[in-house]
Amino acid sequence: MKEQLLRVQEEALATIATATESATVQEMRVRYLGKKSDLSVVLGGLGKLPTIDERKAMGALGNEVKMAISGALDAREAELAKGELAARLAAESIDVSLPGTPAPVGHLHLMNQVRTKIEEIFIAMGYEVAESRIVETDWYNFEALNIPKGHPARDAQDSFFITDEVLLRTHTSNTQIRYMLEVAKGRTPVKIICPGRVFRRDFEDATHGSVFHQVEGLMIDKGITMAHLKGALTEMFRGIFGPQARVRLRPSYFPFTEPSAEMDVSCPFCGGNGCRICKQSGWVEIGGSGMVHPNVLKAGGYDPEQVSGWAFGYGIERVAMLAYQIEDLRHFTSGDVRFLRQF
Ligand code: PHE
Repeated sequence: MKEQLLRVQEEALATIATATESATVQEMRVRYLGKKSDLSVVLGGLGKLPTIDERKAMGALGNEVKMAISGALDAREAELAKGELAARLAAESIDVSLPGTPAPVGHLHLMNQVRTKIEEIFIAMGYEVAESRIVETDWYNFEALNIPKGHPARDAQDSFFITDEVLLRTHTSNTQIRYMLEVAKGRTPVKIICPGRVFRRDFEDATHGSVFHQVEGLMIDKGITMAHLKGALTEMFRGIFGPQARVRLRPSYFPFTEPSAEMDVSCPFCGGNGCRICKQSGWVEIGGSGMVHPNVLKAGGYDPEQVSGWAFGYGIERVAMLAYQIEDLRHFTSGDVRFLRQF
């Protein structure tokens, strides 16, 4: 039996030494120490040994063999596991200092960038951003703005009427009235900037669209004059076109302002010296402005004897085209990412 035990040990240790994977060592543990192992079979014969001393001696030897095999298994397994871990760490290691592949991210559409910029300029001066309805009634879009039915100014803003009294707003000026009546309700000062979409029955070309964006400014308080208007416009144009921008107001007419003025900015291309863009005048027209007409103040619930105000309105597309040298406003809605990515 002694020889049998030693042979079992010898064979087991030799095989264990050849194991190359820790998984194999686990299989060997079953093979050499399990219930059906040679060792168990040999030790099963212990009871048949003739003397107690022999049984004791073989029992002790059997234990030693068991310990030797299990020790060898443990050692081999530990050794292999260490190697395997090292190999895995090496294979799966990530160099976190390597530059990654950037995931493509979008950005705000140029129109929204310009709109946000304009809003920020006014927010910094304590204005509130106000929005109102796109589908509007005749009263808010025209009547309350001192444009009664039959007024020739209605022609200049050919409209999309939905019913006799409801239309797609032709300008953001409806927000002046909505804000006065629904938000400010007679309190002063009123300081708002109102961006939004407007609609006109226009033929589309490089500089006209039937859907475009405007931004409206409105300020009402005691003692407001055109000097305040010019100050706000100057601040706005400097924010958009740079610190060298200058503002020019030219007498004009709008039913909802009196006096009214076209507002021009010094040409952003030539700085005012004269070029093709400004037709050698040094100025480019941006939009309309003026002192809020007394009838408009009244329609908004304000007493024109107590307060005065200024307002302006212009197309955001036009300003974006000037600021970024874009020759055709149809690019904005083309959905062509090659155009959009540039900004
Ligand atoms: N609502 C005018 C337009 O769309 C612009 C404007 C606004 C003019 C406010 C004066 C004052 O043309």
